[in-house]
Amino acid sequence: MNNFPSVFEAINDLSKDQIEGLLILARKFKERDHDKPQFPNKLPIVANSFLENSTRTKNSFAIAIKRLGCHYLDFNTETSSLNKGESLEETLLTLYAQGVDLCIIRTSVSNQLSEFKNNTPVKIINGGDGTNQHPTQALLDLFTMQEIGIELEGKTMAIIGDCIHSRVGHSLCELLPQFGCNIILCGPSDYVPKTPEYEGVEISNDLESTVKRSDFLYTLRIQKERHAGSTEAAKHYDTYHDKYGISRDKLKAWNKEVPVFHPGPANIGVEISSDIIKSSLYKGYDQVVNSIYMRMAIITAILSNNDKNIGIIDGTRIRD
Ligand code: NCD
Repeated sequence: MNNFPSVFEAINDLSKDQIEGLLILARKFKERDHDKPQFPNKLPIVANSFLENSTRTKNSFAIAIKRLGCHYLDFNTETSSLNKGESLEETLLTLYAQGVDLCIIRTSVSNQLSEFKNNTPVKIINGGDGTNQHPTQALLDLFTMQEIGIELEGKTMAIIGDCIHSRVGHSLCELLPQFGCNIILCGPSDYVPKTPEYEGVEISNDLESTVKRSDFLYTLRIQKERHAGSTEAAKHYDTYHDKYGISRDKLKAWNKEVPVFHPGPANIGVEISSDIIKSSLYKGYDQVVNSIYMRMAIITAILSNNDKNIGIIDGTRIRD
């Protein structure tokens, strides 16, 4: 894959060709479904640096790293010098000097990784930054949609939930319209933008008409940790399930028993009911399965680029 970026922060960092390349590579990893080391000569060292909670994403990256045969460093940010006031850049340069080639970073600060695009301390994959982007999630979602046979061209997907505060929602809005899929962002007015921010994306506050127009659904958790005590955002908590929750009854009544995606973690009885999660309509576990292969593909692509502009201080690389 040509010119894969050394800091992969957002869907828009990739060309359509690179996205297609990742889908092909992920499929190859899935079809072979075995642990063949991709880097037989010098094993890269990959660090997982999660500065915010995670179950799925952190473990999925850890497993992908190990299945590629790379060395794995679990960089425990809570016990690191970041808590002694060291800047993230200093920390990343130190990891690079120690031999780390790639860091997967999750942070609660939106756009925190942008500053590393020009002066790159170590190769970086964004594992989710604040409310901004979660590009690997959107790519594994696209891979899963293709895998289960959804033809995206001309289709409509509803993203239902707290779209404004969801980095997954933002990445999907940058990705799926490139494949001809229209998106309707649906939720209470405090959870969706007032006007569309992306091409191929519209806004609705009405669940029934949105579901009736959609070919498949993507549900999102209410991102309470990002509401910072906002009373506007909080006023929907109690009524959310009735008005916007996806349940088997609603889908049956609307004659729309269609695939339902969810990035996890799901709050059962809020944005999604347990009878959906226990049904074959629910694709959340397919997303988890495929997350390994897509992340193997992304890690391989970034480690395989020949970027020599990593870890440079005053014109000199701090290691070979
Ligand atoms: C998402 C995240 O952390 O952005 N989860 C995930 O990575 N699978 C979605 C969420 O937290 O709601």
